[in-house]
Amino acid sequence: VKIYIPGDSGAVAVGADRLALRMAETIKARDLDAVVIRNGSRGMYWLEPMVEIETSQGRVAYGPVKPSDLNSLLDAGLLEGGDHPLCLGATENIPYLKRQTRLTFARCGITDPLSLEDYRANGGLVGLTNAVVLAPEAIVAQVTESGLRGRGGAGFPTGIKWKTVLEAQGPQKYIICNADEGDSGTFADRMIMEGDPFVLIEGMIIAGIATGATKGYVYLRSEYPHAIRVMNRAVEILRQAGVLGISVLGSSHAFDMEIRVGAGAYVCGEETALLESLEGRRGVVRAKPPLPAHKGFLARPTVVNNVISLASVPIIMDKGAAYYRDFGMGRSRGTIPIQIAGNVKHGGLFEAAFGMTLGELVDDIAGGTASGRPVKAVQVGGPLGAYFPRALFDTPFDYEAFAGKDGLIGHAGIVVFDDSADMLKQARFAFEFCAIESCGKCTPCRIGSTRGVEVVDSIRAGIETESQINLMTDLCNTMKFGSLCALGGFTPYPVMSALTHFPEDFRPAPKMTG
Ligand code: NAI
Ligand code: SF4
Repeated sequence: VKIYIPGDSGAVAVGADRLALRMAETIKARDLDAVVIRNGSRGMYWLEPMVEIETSQGRVAYGPVKPSDLNSLLDAGLLEGGDHPLCLGATENIPYLKRQTRLTFARCGITDPLSLEDYRANGGLVGLTNAVVLAPEAIVAQVTESGLRGRGGAGFPTGIKWKTVLEAQGPQKYIICNADEGDSGTFADRMIMEGDPFVLIEGMIIAGIATGATKGYVYLRSEYPHAIRVMNRAVEILRQAGVLGISVLGSSHAFDMEIRVGAGAYVCGEETALLESLEGRRGVVRAKPPLPAHKGFLARPTVVNNVISLASVPIIMDKGAAYYRDFGMGRSRGTIPIQIAGNVKHGGLFEAAFGMTLGELVDDIAGGTASGRPVKAVQVGGPLGAYFPRALFDTPFDYEAFAGKDGLIGHAGIVVFDDSADMLKQARFAFEFCAIESCGKCTPCRIGSTRGVEVVDSIRAGIETESQINLMTDLCNTMKFGSLCALGGFTPYPVMSALTHFPEDFRPAPKMTG
């Protein structure tokens, strides 16, 4: 019998390692014919550690399971998928999972992340096998037709970026995977690297063949030690299997790659600061142009793509551009892994076709707040994203729809706040975050962020509130239009959305009486 217990760091954080160890000991002590497999997470974090049993009717889930539950679970016939108060029924029928469209995360939580055999048995390497016999232009055309846009946040068409690199001249080209996932409330990159690392590597190899790049790097943040370990092992396994190396799957294409670890600065997620860091220097933003596609890593033509963008390519090359393009709305095609966090009942990863409304996600999928209090605001798109009030809950998940309401999807993290949130404090946090993380290259961001903190403090202290609010608005305009990169340029989004939608919070703190 196969018992699945996630090795994902989100599950490990709530005791999955201890549980797996105890499970192995108990199996031995009871002399049971069972084996524990450490899978990725299914992304339902409120149910972790979630145990799944492979039965003849499919997988049955239990959760959240503590080591002290094991004896009662085994007595209730755990290995046959027996009933128990912790039983969640057939995994595939859990509504949170059943309502998803899992394309990029199709295998996450199902396979053993480091078993190449399991990967192949579940559709792995089909996309790459199709790609190795195609001309680079044909691969680029297929990715362009699929409508895939950069999932790191900017939503730039992936096919067009690849075409630029394909057409650029250079003795060496590179594929760089931006795995410096820094947005608050986001974990999709980490989940795929820990739960299905081969799909990301497969996507990078396809990108290499499509653009003529023979070398790749994954720039991974040091805060992700589990992902670093899994990715390093996955690269080694694929190298030994002849998937990576001088001949990709026996073809005339060569591609090899390395995992590089950043020291942990938010700005190193900005592509040019990332390149500086990768070249061994301090993570400071470079002026664009030149675009990395023309002059990137070591001044060579370079594709810099987010983890999810690259991990979505194998399914496109497997099932075709039309299949992927059929999902979604408007110019936002395919699926997006939405990461639900903050004050919610059901936090986790929810992959869906573009088009679901924010309200559906917060009220229905996430089940409202964990505190049981009314939702006040939802920040979409990380610390640089706008706060949306309930009045904007009809906004569909679509790049243009969010931009139309002065917001952004970003890396698709949503963080929910209940009515106890103080939006002036949140505005202060945005400026403070920017001041701490600023690379210091340009004045609006380096100086403006600190002045922003001071202005917010004046508003709270009741010093010329009206004129300070005007000053803050002015400062936001300067930062928005005068900053060199998104860190300084987008900090006004959380600040101004907080002011626009929650003006009642921009007032002095109540005086203590008595
Ligand atoms: P951008 O709009 O400047 O560029 C997007 C991408 O398209 C870049 O890779 C750029 O080099 C490329 N590009 C632009 N024009 C091109 C052309 N003609 N040919 C080829 N390539 C071209 O946006 P940027 O500054 O790269 O990213 C900003 C976004 O990053 C924000 O929307 C924000 O949501 C997101 N972000 C994500 C974080 C995360 O943790 N994933 C953290 C912080 C911000
Ligand atoms: Fe650096 Fe901030 Fe300017 Fe970006 S906006 S280049 S982080 S100082």
